[in-house]
Amino acid sequence: MSMNFIDLQAQRLRLDGKIEAAVQEAVVGGAWVMGPQVRHFEADLAAFGRAKHALGCANGTDALALPLMAWGIGRRDAVFVPSFTFAATAEVVPWFDAEPVFVDVEADTYNMSPSHLEASIEAIIAEGRLKPRAVIAVDLFGQPADYPAIKSICNRHGLKLIADSAQGFGCTIGDDHPLTWADVTTTSFFPAKPLGCYGDGGAVLTDDDDLAQLMDSIRVHGKAVARDLEGRTFDHDPKYLNMRIGLNSRLDTIQAAVLIEKLKVFPEEIEARMRIAARYNEKLAPYVDVVPHLPAGNVSNWAQYTIQHPNRDGLAAHLKAEGVPTAVYYPIPLHLQPAYDHYPRGPQGLPVTERLKETVISLPMHADLDEATQDRVIAAVASFKG
Ligand SMILES: Cc1ncc(COP(=O)(O)O)c(C=O)c1O
Repeated sequence: MSMNFIDLQAQRLRLDGKIEAAVQEAVVGGAWVMGPQVRHFEADLAAFGRAKHALGCANGTDALALPLMAWGIGRRDAVFVPSFTFAATAEVVPWFDAEPVFVDVEADTYNMSPSHLEASIEAIIAEGRLKPRAVIAVDLFGQPADYPAIKSICNRHGLKLIADSAQGFGCTIGDDHPLTWADVTTTSFFPAKPLGCYGDGGAVLTDDDDLAQLMDSIRVHGKAVARDLEGRTFDHDPKYLNMRIGLNSRLDTIQAAVLIEKLKVFPEEIEARMRIAARYNEKLAPYVDVVPHLPAGNVSNWAQYTIQHPNRDGLAAHLKAEGVPTAVYYPIPLHLQPAYDHYPRGPQGLPVTERLKETVISLPMHADLDEATQDRVIAAVASFKG
């Protein structure tokens, strides 16, 4: 029997026609862009993420761009990012002529190293060419970055903090979401993400009223928002009063309709993912070098279940022959990619990142992974003698 790395059809079937009905309603409703489902979903999302504001946008990459644009980040500004992440985290920074500065990760959580972040900021200040402005921490593979430590470094240096929760949306430290520390949380609704839609989509969440207004303006071509209309009369649709350079970055009504249904079951899906990951950890520990480490009290959505093995490529070939799909995130970290290798990196290089790229391998993981299928994965790993 074939096995899926992520089984989105199983989720669709479990939801028993609710998504199809919601899409049908959105189609018949006819408000296909910024329709009522978008507002409804934004309210649900803000409630789930305990944020004052949640705004949909076109994808998780634009979601990162929105706060950078709102803060006016640009030429000669430094934005500190991990290198062990998907390209989008760093990609948005040169869009505005600023420079990403690559920071190493922790060996156990794969998330941004606070001590290397601090050293990287100090090195950039000492060099004097760039001005530190912001940090983008990533909730890699679903687990929260070390926000308490990262936030206190940001406070010391007057830096803005973005939580790139494209992979980790729904993760918590204790009971607290990343927004407890970050100025803004961004996420992606790409289908394979734990909270995914049926196309592209993204969102930003913030408690900052002014930032929310600016991002709302920027996502619709710099339209006038309440703060722009104070003391001014404009008797037409405010989207025809353009106050700043913006984007076209809207969440489609049909995608919002899908997401309303998926968000309803998201908390129980996170619980299922936590159960499945704990079972993997327990049963795989004797056979692999490192199983994932989640600090006590933290919740991960397990966007990826990633182990380490000294003969990673041999294990991948063996699992493929056994019919078990795997993936390597990430074979080339960003500071070694042709598009990014000329940007600054923190002092002493990124040894942890460079080691991880040789050993990490992700196994099938989704909320509908049943024990029989999981046992096939575990047996296939156990039978590798390489
Ligand atoms: C860490 C991270 N940030 C940002 C993004 C960008 O999201 P999107 O594909 O919706 O633009 C992704 C998507 O894979 C991601 O993994």
